[in-house]
Amino acid sequence: MERPDAREMLYEGKAKQVFATDDPERVIVRYKDDATAFNAQKRGTVAGKGEVNNAITALLYPELEGYGVPTHFLARLSEREQLVRRVRIVPVEVIVRNRAAGTFASRYGVEEGRPLDPTVIEFCLKSDALGDPPMNAATAVALGHASEEELEALFDLAAEVNDYLLARFAVAGLDLVDFKLEFGVTGDGDLVLADEISPDTCRLWDAETGDKLDKDRFRRDLGGVEEAYHEVRRRLEATVGRPLDLPEFDDDHQHEHDHAALRLDLTGEEPHDA
Ligand code: TMP
Repeated sequence: MERPDAREMLYEGKAKQVFATDDPERVIVRYKDDATAFNAQKRGTVAGKGEVNNAITALLYPELEGYGVPTHFLARLSEREQLVRRVRIVPVEVIVRNRAAGTFASRYGVEEGRPLDPTVIEFCLKSDALGDPPMNAATAVALGHASEEELEALFDLAAEVNDYLLARFAVAGLDLVDFKLEFGVTGDGDLVLADEISPDTCRLWDAETGDKLDKDRFRRDLGGVEEAYHEVRRRLEATVGRPLDLPEFDDDHQHEHDHAALRLDLTGEEPHDA
């Protein structure tokens, strides 16, 4: 792909910058080494993190597209930059938890690592100032952050992403404990996966040893942060194309039904007889 020029900076977040291009529907995302935690109360840098997270996201998003998940990703442009579709970010962060950890473990007083069945999918308001507060579906709708239809779509897409990532990280010897997703709406009105998937936004434990290979090393001052990020990249790159143990994702969203029973009831009505 011809490399589009970056024009003015449209936005600067904690870990990335967004630049306009000459195409109003496309923007360039530049990944920084800056690291924050606890809603930016803790700040630092992780050398090379921008390159690693750009590479990991650029590896996973096309794979997710191949699995049937629409994303904003278009192309990796350089070590730190990628071209993506311009979207309006839905201010609802979707957190998927396969095991208890982090704020979930402390909120409910359970041990980190406890498997969660069913998988827990949470919505949080995207607001550092408010500490990304958890929000149920009614709250998100009542406050105008998303429509009921959008929330249902976010839930289903997050479940599909989890199906894929669990299997994908497993072949790389990594246990996907939990992660956060963000979604956006394109100029055409399409809801797509946006933002990044990286050791910044996932908890990844070594499947053999349980070692943490993610941002908890930074959050908790465990040391070896750079090495952990590089190791995740190395393992993912070394396992590209390996067969995955995946549930089928067909165009009729056949296995959406598996998740339907777990979906938050947005209306408060009793489910109809099936
Ligand atoms: P938590 O345990 O802090 O609630 O985080 C759950 C997962 O979501 C963990 O993998 C980190 C990720 N996450 C982010 O990437 N950004 C955020 O702003 C939050 C709150 C969580």
